[in-house]
Amino acid sequence: MASNDFDNRWGTDTDGEIPIELLEHDAAIAGQAVSYEPTDPDAFRVMVRELAIAREDYTFLDLGSGKGRVVLLAAQAGFGRVVGIEASPLLHHTACTNLRVWAQAGHGTRHIDLRSEDAAGADIPPGPCVVYLFNPFRERAMSRLLRQIRRSLQHVPRDLWLLYYNPQARHLLESSDCLARVTVGRGFQQGDYEIWRSHAAFRGE
Ligand SMILES: C[S@@+](CC[C@H](N)C(=O)[O-])C[C@H]1O[C@@H](n2cnc3c(N)ncnc32)[C@H](O)[C@@H]1O
Repeated sequence: MASNDFDNRWGTDTDGEIPIELLEHDAAIAGQAVSYEPTDPDAFRVMVRELAIAREDYTFLDLGSGKGRVVLLAAQAGFGRVVGIEASPLLHHTACTNLRVWAQAGHGTRHIDLRSEDAAGADIPPGPCVVYLFNPFRERAMSRLLRQIRRSLQHVPRDLWLLYYNPQARHLLESSDCLARVTVGRGFQQGDYEIWRSHAAFRGE
């Protein structure tokens, strides 16, 4: 499926790369943020198939959700709850419009939540979840997010998967004691992907 086939099919506007200087991020975020590029739908489906979980029991969290394409794909893939967090007000606005278009096309949307916030400091939902990152930010923001994830797992040990597409800051995960690498996929046009999972000790096992 070509990237814009998704929009052609559903009438949404999720395609196209947008450079960082047009995203109107707050100054505090801009220095760590990466520009907008949507995930290829076929690559997303391959990655999600790797998750050995009952999706309806999991919250899917797209951190740096852009125009919301992955949020809609995750809803379509059957996750129990889907949350998209995007710092660019411009992209968040487009994502909200896309969600309305999605609802008008007959899809249920009550389990979908779009927020305009800094995703690196996001509260991680307390139940089982999948955190999705398509290389949204640089090292400092990534370190902050990993501290959030660790704190959250310490507080409520549970099953948490991290799906990291184009994993530019993978070395930070390698030094994390709460996540273990499950698999690596290569050969996609937009980069490799890595799948990590909360370590058994952080799942309460
Ligand atoms: C490569 S795009 C990925 C978009 C979407 N997740 C997808 O896969 O289709 C990265 C997104 O992260 C957003 N972003 C960067 N830093 C952020 C932050 N601190 N909080 C929230 N969003 C952020 C950017 O504005 C951009 O929309």
